[in-house]
This record gives sequence, structure tokens and C-alpha cells, in this order.
Amino acid sequence: MKIAVIGGGSTYTPELVDGFARLGSMVSELVLIDPAAERLDIVGAFAARILTAYGHPGKISWTTDLDAGVTDADAVVIQLRVGGQRARITDETFPLECGCVGQETTGAGGLAKALRTVPVILDVAERVRKRARPGAWIVDFTNPVGIVTRALLDAGHRAVGLCNVAIGFQRRFAGHLGVDPSSVVLEHVGLNHLTWERAAYVDGVDRLPELLGTHVSEISGEVDIAEPIISMLGAVPSYYLSYFYAHDRHVRESLGAPTRGQRVAEIEATLLDMYRDVTLVEKPALLGERGGAYYSEAAVGLIASLAGLDDDAVHSVNVRNNGILPFLPAEAVIEVSARAGHDGPAPLPVTPLPPDLAGLITHTWGYEELALDAALRGGRDRVYRALLAHPLIGQHELAGPLADKLIAAGRDHLAWA
Ligand code: G6P
Ligand code: MN
Repeated sequence: MKIAVIGGGSTYTPELVDGFARLGSMVSELVLIDPAAERLDIVGAFAARILTAYGHPGKISWTTDLDAGVTDADAVVIQLRVGGQRARITDETFPLECGCVGQETTGAGGLAKALRTVPVILDVAERVRKRARPGAWIVDFTNPVGIVTRALLDAGHRAVGLCNVAIGFQRRFAGHLGVDPSSVVLEHVGLNHLTWERAAYVDGVDRLPELLGTHVSEISGEVDIAEPIISMLGAVPSYYLSYFYAHDRHVRESLGAPTRGQRVAEIEATLLDMYRDVTLVEKPALLGERGGAYYSEAAVGLIASLAGLDDDAVHSVNVRNNGILPFLPAEAVIEVSARAGHDGPAPLPVTPLPPDLAGLITHTWGYEELALDAALRGGRDRVYRALLAHPLIGQHELAGPLADKLIAAGRDHLAWA
């Protein structure tokens, strides 16, 4: 099986390659594709050393030529970042000037990222469609994953969106319960970066109530969400929901502090220096300071299932709703646990949601629809409308200035601006 990784020059890539080396016996060829030639050379050479160290027989190569790289691929992972960390830092900064949270996927920063990313992804996916093997899957890690997956599916691509939030909970819950992670099946539900864990089944028994009885304060610390909220809901919100449940605190804490993007840029520079060292053959511990924990396990597991090799495994993925959440249209993209096999992911049933969860999901879904429309068609009016629809913005006096700042800051990456 040939796997192409678009954005393969990312400092995250060694994590993925380590996963393929440990778990991916089905991979016979890995191609890393990235326009940043110098970085790609460093990451590619290091990735090759990782494979060799594991004695993995697969072939690895790297190229700046996307069309050549994806030719005859059986699966394509897309993990690109338009504008790099520089654009991310801007996304994390301009909303703060209006008293709104500055985050790369939530709020106005997330809209900025969607606007510059969707057109690039659609162009890349068209090129994949022409050259990859018929039936090849696109596995999208590119944020904002929900909006990007919706764009890919609407354009008729065979795509599934992936995020590591659910697998992180699966591993942590398994640790607390003292069971094997693969025995934990989550009821994971919502939209990408707006999800709750509502059950954690081990051998068919929901162990989440027990876990909340014994570990709620630890879990509260891990997700940065107040204990009473978790106990009241009887569900564990993802860390990203703390930007909703504690919006104003995040704004206060961010003012005058370095942004996550600045910290990540420093980590990346150090990682690249480490990767240059030809004696380095395993991923350095510093990589663990990035947010992508278990992302290689998630990707390798999902690709294996979609290839029909590990049939029936459960993964949390971004897919069409198709009636799973009855309050959203069929074509909406949601993030849920699904059994994945050769024919794609088949979502597990979801128990009816309480009004607070259904309400916030619906509100955010409305924003995401408008965000995609703005990304596809451009224009200040559409940007303004999406911002006004966002549950964390919602006011004219915020949406107007935010729209102007977003467009001014993003001009280099927005064809219509
Ligand atoms: C988590 C999220 C990803 C996000 C990452 C950011 O893994 O699920 O969608 O890209 O965090 O990590 P970083 O190290 O770039 O802050
Ligand atoms: Mn994610």
C-alpha cells in the first residue's frame, strides 16, 4: 500500500512515520510531499532513519512535486498549514483586540484559518483525484477539520476527517480504568473541536459514571473545565470546550502572554535542529510537547481499517450526519465514533442529546455552514455573517471590527481580498 502525506515536511511527521514503522505492516511505500524543500529534506532523511531503525521494509521518498508524489497512492493524508505558524499567530492575536478568544480553530481565528485553507485543500484534492488510485481515501488532519471535511465531501471526494481528541480520551480513560485502550469504545459526539465523551464502554458496560466518581477532579484538570460542569453533564467535554465554558478567562489569561503559535514555532526550530543530527533515529521527547499525542495511532489505525485490513475497528471520525443527530441536516459533517471498514466509516448510534449539547452543536453548525460559504465565495459580507453567527461572537459591535481585522491580516492568503 502506498501512502502519500501532503504537508510531509511538518515537524509532526516523525510521529506519523514512527506509527507506520511500529504498526503499519501494510505500508510498502511512503511519500512525503511538501513545498518547503529544505525542511522536507531534513524531515525526510530523519523519517528514513526511523524506518531503518525499526527494520521496516517499506520504501520512503520525499518530493516537492505534489502530482508526482500522489500518483498511484492508495491513501493520502493531508496535514498542511497554509501560512505556517506565522498565520496561526495572527489568528491567535487579532480576536483579542476585540475581547474575543484568540485560538487557531475556535472563534474568529478558526474562521480565518478556514478561509485561507479550504481553497488550497480543494485544489490539492482535485490533483489527488486525478492521480491517486481509484477509490483512494483522503484522510484529512488539516484544521478546521469539520469545515474542511465538509468541503471535501461536497466536492465529491472520498474523504474522512480525523482528530486526535477522542483517541487521547480513550488512552487516558483506559489508563484510569487499568484496561487495554483498544477495549474502550467511546460515545464521542459533536462537531470537530466541540465534542463530549458521553460513555466509555468496556466489554459492553459503560464505565464513565464510575470514572467520574473516582477521577473527576483529575479529568477536570486535564480538560481545563470546571468540575461541576462535568459532574452535571455526566459527560467529559473536550479541552476545546473550555473556550466556550470559560471564554472570558481565556481572554484574560492570553492578554500579554505569548501565544501557543509562538511557543510551537520555538519547539519546531529546536526539533528541526535535532532532526538534522544524523545519529538521531527515534522521535525525540520534545515532540510530545506538541498537541498531536496519539495522532499516528489514530491515522494508522484508520487507514488500516479503511483498507479492510483491521475491519470493524471503532475510530472517531468526521463524516456526514445522515440522521445520526436528528436535529442536523443529513449533509452536515459531525464527529462521532464509527466502525470503519473497506466501505468507509459507519457511525455508531448516539443516545439522544440533552438540550444544552444539542443547542450548542446546532448553533456552531450554523456558523460552520456560513464559514464554508465565506471560504468558497469570499467577500466581507459573508465573513461578517459567519462571525455574527458564531456562538462566541454574536454581536454587531464585535463581528464588524473582527471581519475587518481578519481580512486585513489574512489578505496575502485570500484571493478575493
Ligand atoms: C490537537 C488538536 C489538533 C491541533 C493540535 C495543535 O492535537 O486535535 O487539531 O492541530 O492539537 O497542537 P499544537 O502543538 O500545534 O498546538
Ligand atoms: Mn484536532
